[in-house]
Amino acid sequence: MVFDRPLLTEEQIQARVKELAGRINSDYKGREILAIGILKGAFMFFSDLVKHINVPLTVDFIVSSSYEDTTTTGKVNIHLDARKPVTDKDVLIIEDIIDTGISLNYIKEKLLQKSPNTLKICVLLDKKERRLVEVDVDYTGFEIPDEFVVGYGTDYNDNYRNLPYVAILKQPG
Ligand code: IMP
Ligand code: MG
Repeated sequence: MVFDRPLLTEEQIQARVKELAGRINSDYKGREILAIGILKGAFMFFSDLVKHINVPLTVDFIVSSSYEDTTTTGKVNIHLDARKPVTDKDVLIIEDIIDTGISLNYIKEKLLQKSPNTLKICVLLDKKERRLVEVDVDYTGFEIPDEFVVGYGTDYNDNYRNLPYVAILKQPG
């Protein structure tokens, strides 16, 4: 596996993360956020983003998976559900990337069954052309082309999540 120069540099990502947090801060003024990160992919984006959020905030996580190698299985597995009560909370789902929309749609529907006060979605990366299920995303970091990316939380078979930038993964040959 090889990858090119970064599609998004660490500097670009960090600048955008601050902008997103700024919008979230003004939208949620006077309220409290229950930030729910979707693991594992969201771990880096989640921790960087919440550092810049200045309204009261609690955190929780859902562990889910739907990918094998570079293709979605179309079936979403929840390995660990959110533990904090969601009812009447202002929930902000934080995810690394939206692709077909199947994962986020599934997670959103599950959380809506628990009657939050509001539910919004924040993603760092959006591969819009790949959408199969319509999902309203409230905060998007970057729209990216239909390429398989790694880094900044996103992975290929669990590798490369630690890169501070995002790069396109190319199969050799
Ligand atoms: P969706 O259900 O097709 O929207 O896929 C969302 C999930 O697929 C993300 O949370 C990622 O875990 C994974 N995914 C989608 N595209 C990529 C990619 O380009 N690189 C790494 N993971 C991806
Ligand atoms: Mg993910």
